[in-house]
Amino acid sequence: MDHIYPIFDTLISTNQKETMLKQKSIVVWMVGLSGSGKSTLARALENTLYEKGYLTQLLDGDNLRTGINNNLGFSVEDRVENIRRAAEVSKLFAQCGIVTICSLISPTKGIRDMTREIIGGKYFEVFINCPIEECEKRDVKGLYAKARRGEIKDFTGISSPFEAPENPDLEIRTDLKDIEHCHASLVDAVLEKIEI
Ligand code: ADX
Repeated sequence: MDHIYPIFDTLISTNQKETMLKQKSIVVWMVGLSGSGKSTLARALENTLYEKGYLTQLLDGDNLRTGINNNLGFSVEDRVENIRRAAEVSKLFAQCGIVTICSLISPTKGIRDMTREIIGGKYFEVFINCPIEECEKRDVKGLYAKARRGEIKDFTGISSPFEAPENPDLEIRTDLKDIEHCHASLVDAVLEKIEI
């Protein structure tokens, strides 16, 4: 027999996997300052999609920076590499038909252009927009206070740049709308993309 493992000869397409999962994959790329609400909305989105029967994968600073990206800090070069790896991993999940939700500051236009380039047509950019004054007031992790005291260098919005996305696919103002409203608009936009 020529092929003991014939399955290795077949390439199962993303389309076939999406059909199997009864969903279309996208990469929901959530951009925003620390404290803007990205992680909260990303987790809530994943929960709702799970309840509706969709298969998802959540990628954020917590699970990437403690694992695959644990050799990276917050210099410009390290952020680029952090995002590049996140984008490549997201692409693989999306190719597998999985709805991939990424919650990463992604602070510059250059970084986001690279991400769009890597992921291609399945890239769906969501700007979680909240003014820095409000993020700093919330200071959920106490990091803004530390950054102001000079204890954290290169802190986004304080000592490292944040360029707001100019043309996101969806923008959510977490300082103007309550969490339920923000969640609902995110879920609606994503469902429209992933329903078969
Ligand atoms: S990114 O700029 O490379 O996209 P990423 O989203 O992975 O950043 O990580 C941001 C998280 O790391 C923040 O939510 C915050 O909790 C933590 N953090 C620690 N140091 C910094 C820093 N110097 N700048 C921004 N976030 C930091």
